[in-house]
Amino acid sequence: MIELGCGTAYLSALLARQGARPVGVDLTPAQLDTARRCQERSGLVFPLVEGNAENVPLPDAGFDLVVSEYGASVWCDPERWVAEAARLLRPGGRLVFLTNSVLATLCVPEEEGYAQERLLRPQRALNRLQWPGGGIEFHPSHGEWIRVLGANGFVVEALHELYAPADGETHEYYDIATAHWARQWPVEDLWAARLAPLTINLQEDSHGPLPAHRRARSDR
Ligand SMILES: C[S@@+](CC[C@H](N)C(=O)[O-])C[C@H]1O[C@@H](n2cnc3c(N)ncnc32)[C@H](O)[C@@H]1O
Repeated sequence: MIELGCGTAYLSALLARQGARPVGVDLTPAQLDTARRCQERSGLVFPLVEGNAENVPLPDAGFDLVVSEYGASVWCDPERWVAEAARLLRPGGRLVFLTNSVLATLCVPEEEGYAQERLLRPQRALNRLQWPGGGIEFHPSHGEWIRVLGANGFVVEALHELYAPADGETHEYYDIATAHWARQWPVEDLWAARLAPLTINLQEDSHGPLPAHRRARSDR
């Protein structure tokens, strides 16, 4: 499996404990240094690659699972990183990613503070969202995610809209929403999609021609 925008790679380490063979990819050397220190402590050592999740320096069809937990799923252009996820996966492989919910992103104040109980920006502005502090995030609507996933050969298996548990409490490190807010509205979106297996009939789908790496070699 491969994690795009792995940061500390704690998620990959968790999956390695369960038998996965991860590769972590991240753009930021300092994050990879932290991931290496974590590996030294835990003894769970797997490859860490410095690279851009929009243009991953690894060959086609080498993985069964692509994951992203607030990595590429937030910081990369979906048109590019989802295409990379499709390229990196074997036919039938899975993509699972976690990101802020669309609703939370519509309701968080621009400067700081918890999500409000009203919409603070247009949904049309979410595709590429520039915060006043300088960061650029990508928060497509659910319809946009379905379009991008489908265009890259994925079939959506599930969208889990995550709420706070009934006994959840507001945590000082989690500055997006209070527990009260997150018990009423989903605060995170967890997507699961499967790359359609290649079949003789799957040369084109309703979204038009398949991307080059998904076409039979003789068609390229
Ligand atoms: C919120 S952090 C890390 C998330 C990770 N799950 C963790 O807990 O450490 C997001 C990560 O995405 C990485 N990132 C941002 N843009 C990237 C890109 N274009 N390609 C690869 N990684 C990227 C950042 O360097 C950062 O490590």
